Amino acid sequence: MSGPERQSTPTTVVIFGASGDLTQRKLIPALYNNFKKRRLPEGIRIIGVARRDWTDDYFRARLRDGVRENSAASHDDATWSELEGKLHYFQGNLDSAEDYQRLQAHLNALESGPADRLYYLATAPEYYGPACGHLAAAGMNSDAQGRRSIIIEKPFGEDLASAQTLNAQVHAAFREDQVYRIDHYMGKETAQNILFLRFANTLFEPVWNRRYVSNIQVTVAETVDVGHRAGYYDKAGVLRDMFQNHLLQLLALVAMEPPASLNADAIRNEKAKVLGAIRPIHLANTVRAQYEGYRAAEGVAPSSATPTYAALKLHIDNWRWKGVPFYLRSGKAMADRSSTIIVEFQAPPDIMFKLGENECFTPNMLSICIQPNEGMQLRFETKVPDTVAESHSVNMNFQYRDAYPGVILPDAYERLLLDALKGDASLFARSDEIEAAWRLIDPVLSGYKTSPDLSPICSYPVGSWGPSAADDLLVRGGHVWRSGCQSCGGGTLCTIPKNA
Ligand code: BG6
Repeated sequence: MSGPERQSTPTTVVIFGASGDLTQRKLIPALYNNFKKRRLPEGIRIIGVARRDWTDDYFRARLRDGVRENSAASHDDATWSELEGKLHYFQGNLDSAEDYQRLQAHLNALESGPADRLYYLATAPEYYGPACGHLAAAGMNSDAQGRRSIIIEKPFGEDLASAQTLNAQVHAAFREDQVYRIDHYMGKETAQNILFLRFANTLFEPVWNRRYVSNIQVTVAETVDVGHRAGYYDKAGVLRDMFQNHLLQLLALVAMEPPASLNADAIRNEKAKVLGAIRPIHLANTVRAQYEGYRAAEGVAPSSATPTYAALKLHIDNWRWKGVPFYLRSGKAMADRSSTIIVEFQAPPDIMFKLGENECFTPNMLSICIQPNEGMQLRFETKVPDTVAESHSVNMNFQYRDAYPGVILPDAYERLLLDALKGDASLFARSDEIEAAWRLIDPVLSGYKTSPDLSPICSYPVGSWGPSAADDLLVRGGHVWRSGCQSCGGGTLCTIPKNA
């Protein structure tokens, strides 16, 4: 995926929406960390564009505070002073064609020669399409003076139609190879490690299919509630906010066929293919719920039917996965923060060992712990010492903090910004992946409007593992949510009768 770490072409990063939270909390800390590691192109310049009447000094002071609070690496004044000189502010209105012309002239004067440019749309989503149009009208998409690329934040559309419209607007201004649709889950170390686990080892891939896998579970549980984001969240809900992007992207990494290389298109072809092979989701295979008290949160409509939790059962209709259920769940205000993928293998065809008193047989499980406690665990059976034939499950455990002591796992934005600067799109979603994901989620969202009774919204207590309906969804298939890396609200299920 990532090639040599440092570019020599002078490069300008232009952040639109630079007065916002994302710039302060994520983008500048990520650029700072890369700068500290000497990975940014020499001659880097970072221009923040926003409407407010700020000076360079004010902008820099604000960003310094952001770096102090949010950078994974420790803050040091010398590095900051060096970077600070490369940070500038430009006051401009995203609606104004004239302001893009002014910005273009300003950037040309600063660059005074060929330079690559990376535009970052950290704005409200309604500006994504129009901003692309304005950039093109001002000639800012032209590669004549250096590479021009653009990063677009999520949400990428709010349904299939709006995502297609946005893709059309983006493509009217930029070629696909200039476009980087960011999904920060793809920048997490552990998510990147999925491809290494599967394709840099010989052990797992032979059993990574319907012959050996019983089911796959993807959990992204959060303890945070809607907080101050109700304005956005109450319109979006968990399916748009988490499933259309993060969960389906994780699923694609787990389920895709081996790519021919680590080249961006080779990877994205396989991801798009597997997303396209997911069977349309039956509403009865979905659970949607709201945490108790959600409707009373500031900014939430008192009669809101927006789910803050969902669980889905999916099937992939291809040779590898036919008949293997994929269970996805995500919610806010849950018992623990935990993003985990569990591959549950089938039980052996015959169990000839005794189980301990009150123990159920536990199939082998591979847990990919995305966060926190990043690592992987393989659960398998052993003989209990000093018994004749009693079986007990134990874990083989890989933890980043033990295997790579002292290494601070970079924030997702650190990797993603660096890759975009280098022109490596392998961790970014292509237009067809985005549309394939919407093609799955959209009918569920409209089904909730037209046939709400097929999956009535239920509630769950704050600090729980979600509604019992989500447990029932698995039990119907003879499965149970598994706890992997830590407590994931999992249970045990005697899918095989004790001492069978
Ligand atoms: C964002 C969602 O994309 O991801 C948020 O909009 C969510 O609602 C966040 O809280 C979760 O990201 P992370 O990295 O904290 O797991």
